[in-house]
Amino acid sequence: MKINVISGAFEKLKTGAAILPVFEDGKPGRELERADRNLGSMISRLIKQGDFTARPGSVHLLYPGGSMAAERLILVGLGKKSDLTLDRIRLAAGKAAPHARSSGAESMVFVTEGLGLDAEETAQALTEGSILGLYRFLKYKTNGESGKRKEIKAITLLAGQAASVAAMRKGVSAGKIIAESTVLARDLVNHPGADMTPTVLAGQARSLARQYGLKIKVLERKQIEKLGMGAFLGVAAGSIQPPKFIILEYRGGGSRPFIALVGKSITFDSGGISIKPAENMERMKDDMSGGAAVLGAIRNAAALKLKLNIVGLLPAAENMPGGRALKPGDVLCTLSGQTIEIVNTDAEGRLILADALSYACRYKPAVIVDIATLTGACTIALGHEAIGMLGTADQYKQQMRAAGEKTGERVWELPLWENYYDQIKSDIADMKNTGGRAASVITASALLSKFVGKYPWVHLDIAATAWTDKDRPYTPKGPTGIGARLLTQFLRDFEK
Ligand code: BES
Ligand code: MN
Ligand code: ZN
Repeated sequence: MKINVISGAFEKLKTGAAILPVFEDGKPGRELERADRNLGSMISRLIKQGDFTARPGSVHLLYPGGSMAAERLILVGLGKKSDLTLDRIRLAAGKAAPHARSSGAESMVFVTEGLGLDAEETAQALTEGSILGLYRFLKYKTNGESGKRKEIKAITLLAGQAASVAAMRKGVSAGKIIAESTVLARDLVNHPGADMTPTVLAGQARSLARQYGLKIKVLERKQIEKLGMGAFLGVAAGSIQPPKFIILEYRGGGSRPFIALVGKSITFDSGGISIKPAENMERMKDDMSGGAAVLGAIRNAAALKLKLNIVGLLPAAENMPGGRALKPGDVLCTLSGQTIEIVNTDAEGRLILADALSYACRYKPAVIVDIATLTGACTIALGHEAIGMLGTADQYKQQMRAAGEKTGERVWELPLWENYYDQIKSDIADMKNTGGRAASVITASALLSKFVGKYPWVHLDIAATAWTDKDRPYTPKGPTGIGARLLTQFLRDFEK
């Protein structure tokens, strides 16, 4: 996808579709006024009659005929001017771009005059919204359609003033990198479990390392045994797919301490011996979304050349009910030396994370962030609108919340009070791996907290947000790729 920035008037620009943003209130911008005049007040009439409301996410397609060089004109609503946020701009682009594509356009021009937010950030949001809104995954379609499908090949952002072109170009280049990493995360999750095994995932991490000059180490079963990651090995035991412990290092920060990013990478979660019901089990190929987000974030850090040192840890395994599988009642000895009684083999995420978090401590990190499709209960708590956040580091939780607002990947905190720890007390081991139905987002985190030592730690539960069953403006049905953008914003703020 080619995205460029120019300034000037839009009428003379030949393009498949000109996208014109419209506010519900306030004075229309110069470009909108001129377009309206050229179209004999058609836009004013549309708005007056209520055919186009300019509510966030509303779109309206017009064929302007000879009154301008664009073949199509798409009005896109931004809501009230005073409520405008970067995410609304992202949403508008995410709605407009696929609309332009399905109407047959192969190029688009975005008019950005009068939006009133920071030019660089606006350009980044438009770029992200367009690329993410146009996302589709056609690898497994054989109907021959893929070659014939129309694609948007070029996008032009039209700056309101010549003076903001340079800033907007910066925004576009960051936006492209960042959106493409989310696309990478979505692609990884979209692949069926059979084609995205721990071995394949490790291969993907290796090719990322090669492309961006990262250090990579993949620990094989033998080495994992030698280290003593009993919890991770226990989860992997029921599958014929060997586990891989993927370690990726990006060093751009000189002598700064590492930031550790840990991503749950269960390439398929059947539940193991505590097998899941059949309904929706196919979705459990998304149980490596945390790992995908970490790969995306590290790709961004490297491509944006952030002045940070980052280690990404991906414990990758399949949770299957094979003959050697972990059984309820078994006791596992973790890398930390603490023991865990298995009550339910479907609570496997916290087991692999326990060992990965202990491993993260070896880096003496400034902060550990883990991201995981950890608990179905996260949907009960927050629905599909927010990532559940828990942790021990107030400052970093605050930073994560701000990053969530900025990226539209919003997070909401749940408490990690001492009282909850009673629920995971075991009669036989140091703890048990489930704490019953009550507050299970929290009790899962309570277990994790026992493996982060003294290091500041933020946990993100993306079980409810890694996948969407309905199309959203810049998030089509399927894997959302959530987390890559959030973590990247968190890292960018960390750099300051
Ligand atoms: N991967 C699942 C969590 C999940 C469930 C993600 C639904 C997305 C949608 C996790 O491994 C799991 O199975 N959690 C159990 C824990 C329970 C057994 C304590 C859950 O949430 O039901
Ligand atoms: Mn599970
Ligand atoms: Zn799982």
